[in-house]
Amino acid sequence: MASDGVPQRTGNNLDPWYANYAERAAGLAASEVRALFAVASRPEVVSLAGGMPFVSALPHELIVSSMEKVMRERGAVALQYGSGQGIPELREQILEVMAIEGIHGSVDNVVTATGSQQALDLVAKLFIDPGDVILAESPSYVGALGIFRSYQANVAHVATDEHGLIPEALRQTIAALRGQGRRIKFLYTIPNFHNPAGVTLSAERRPEILEICRSNEILVLEDNPYGLLHFDEPAPDALRSLDPEGVIYLGSFSKTLAPGFRVGWALAPHAIREKLILAAESAILSPSSFSQLVVSEYLATADWRGQIDTFRGVYRERKDAMVEALGEYLPQLNWTNPNGGFYVWVTMPDMLDSKQMLPRAVKELVAYTPGTAFFADGRGRHAMRLSYCYPTPEAIRVGIRRLATVINGELDLLDTFAGTGPLQLPPSAGYDSAPPSDLK
Ligand SMILES: Cc1ncc(COP(=O)(O)O)c(C=O)c1O
Repeated sequence: MASDGVPQRTGNNLDPWYANYAERAAGLAASEVRALFAVASRPEVVSLAGGMPFVSALPHELIVSSMEKVMRERGAVALQYGSGQGIPELREQILEVMAIEGIHGSVDNVVTATGSQQALDLVAKLFIDPGDVILAESPSYVGALGIFRSYQANVAHVATDEHGLIPEALRQTIAALRGQGRRIKFLYTIPNFHNPAGVTLSAERRPEILEICRSNEILVLEDNPYGLLHFDEPAPDALRSLDPEGVIYLGSFSKTLAPGFRVGWALAPHAIREKLILAAESAILSPSSFSQLVVSEYLATADWRGQIDTFRGVYRERKDAMVEALGEYLPQLNWTNPNGGFYVWVTMPDMLDSKQMLPRAVKELVAYTPGTAFFADGRGRHAMRLSYCYPTPEAIRVGIRRLATVINGELDLLDTFAGTGPLQLPPSAGYDSAPPSDLK
């Protein structure tokens, strides 16, 4: 308190309100590599870092005419507030989209949202109290980890291999956490063409994972933005199709149409969906009527299934280019070979640190996302996520060649100094090792 009785702000030079934030705001830390990504977005840099869909492959004119038609015929609705649950005809069409993956839901249980990211946030808001535990794959989607952190949850990563979550590891993680008296709120999983790991949960493991969750009374949050973007085999039927009461399913038009519309959805068990609608109304009143109507018009008039085939062809060619280039330029590394989606997960020798290496990579005009972004507990230093969705196959080859220059340079340096003492090697961090028992 100052002598004139006016309270002094206890902030700092950069932010006078620093001391006033809620505790949960501490979870909103910007990633350490964000500044570098600003540099990485320069045109001369091949960015294998982002997850931007290749929207240039869309039928531009058809989308323009969908927008025009919406404005001419339903302008008054498009420009107005709408229902918190979303526009009924779009929710009906969403059922058709989900039917491809074996889901037979009721239109009453579909809630549209501002991207599936918002649906994810709403589910987290409904279920997480500070200190609760969320189970997630090892590694997991950076955008989900950010949400869980902002609601002050602790994430327990469950070991994952090329067939997705390992059922035995899930059993052990649950038992260990229960032994510590921890409260597990849900399993967050991306079963198809995982971001960032590029793997798909096998059909055999799906019922087992659901049974483990059911017998432990753990809700499943299935996040499936990439499910329809397969290369060879379609993904196995959705988890939601096997257990309608135990799974909240999240879907999105961001990858099968365009993220700019910001239209995603949740299909919730009936008991949960009312709370979800109330949470959505309290957050945003209603999702964009205009966007929902344009997406609905597109689904009604365009060959959307054919467009998804076009996307699959584009991404397949780019994935092949990336995997071939890795084989040619970096044969000493390990990587996943996805059957769909946008991402390859690369594992380097233990002594390499992808975060420390990133500035050198950007200097060589290539960018990637360091593996640590996809763990809540600091693991992932010797891994990285490479995206093939946006750059052309030629650019991908150039990018991998540049990456090889950086990685081989690092390895040469380590070789030169090996055994001489002064060089500090980062601790090794296996991406599949068991979660630490001292989860905070
Ligand atoms: C696994 C996963 N979930 C959710 C999202 C968010 O997607 P949306 O654009 O629907 O909000 C993304 C976006 O990249 C994602 O990869």
